Amino acid sequence: MDAELLLAHVLGTTRTALLTRDDVRDEDAARFAALLDQRADRVPLQHLTGRAPFRHLELAVGPGVFVPRPETEQLAGWALERIAGIAEPVVVDLGSGSGALALAVAQEHPGARVTAVERDPVAIEWTRRNAAGHPAVEVVLGDMTDPALLTGLDGTVDVVVSNPPYVPDGAGLPREVAEHDPPLALWGGHDGLDVVRGLLTTAARLLRPGGLLGIEHADQQGTALPALVRSAGGWADVEDHPDLAGRPRYTTARRSRG
Ligand SMILES: C[S@@+](CC[C@H](N)C(=O)[O-])C[C@H]1O[C@@H](n2cnc3c(N)ncnc32)[C@H](O)[C@@H]1O
Repeated sequence: MDAELLLAHVLGTTRTALLTRDDVRDEDAARFAALLDQRADRVPLQHLTGRAPFRHLELAVGPGVFVPRPETEQLAGWALERIAGIAEPVVVDLGSGSGALALAVAQEHPGARVTAVERDPVAIEWTRRNAAGHPAVEVVLGDMTDPALLTGLDGTVDVVVSNPPYVPDGAGLPREVAEHDPPLALWGGHDGLDVVRGLLTTAARLLRPGGLLGIEHADQQGTALPALVRSAGGWADVEDHPDLAGRPRYTTARRSRG
């Protein structure tokens, strides 16, 4: 499938339309062969095409930014369902990378006002590039664990979403991930939850009473992350949700007091 997608990329067509082609110019064949070599050397498909699909979006990606994953689409869907009845919800995406979550919310709920926070000065250039043309999304350079982050929004936010770095230090990763996703997007300390601890404090401060938090996590954190949220205090309705493959994938909670 990757080979077909790369050939379609070279020819400027779709994978399905390849069926109607019966010749390829020499220069396209050479470009295709070079891309195949890079893919065989574990360069991510999305870095070779420069694009990553995410719900109804096609995001620009490349070296320096985390490639958005299909499983994160469900967290975006959860957030969109929760804000469906609010005309102008205030939403914050902590650790925005390509802008996937922030932009999906803004695109699918036109009244939403979304703030996308990213700490990495290289990654945020991709956030800005993808957010251009989405005036409802404000991109902010900042640390999601910083007590001074977005203090102007304290107690006003309807939904905080985050797909933070959550890989436990030392975990084995495929070469596509280990060599091409930025380290800041991946590593989360000994249990993978270091950044999440700070993010919980920030989310508790930003959310209005009754506001909602959704955090993506690793397969192995489906018990540990809900337990961490419960032990932090001030959260109700703490639940964990599986992805489409049935693996524990994100935790949600409601802010019960300020
Ligand atoms: C796993 S990636 C997710 C990116 C995007 N939200 C997505 O779902 O595809 C985590 C992102 O959080 C950013 N990040 C890591 N630590 C951060 C921090 N303390 N404050 C803000 N952003 C942070 C990383 O640079 C990276 O872009």
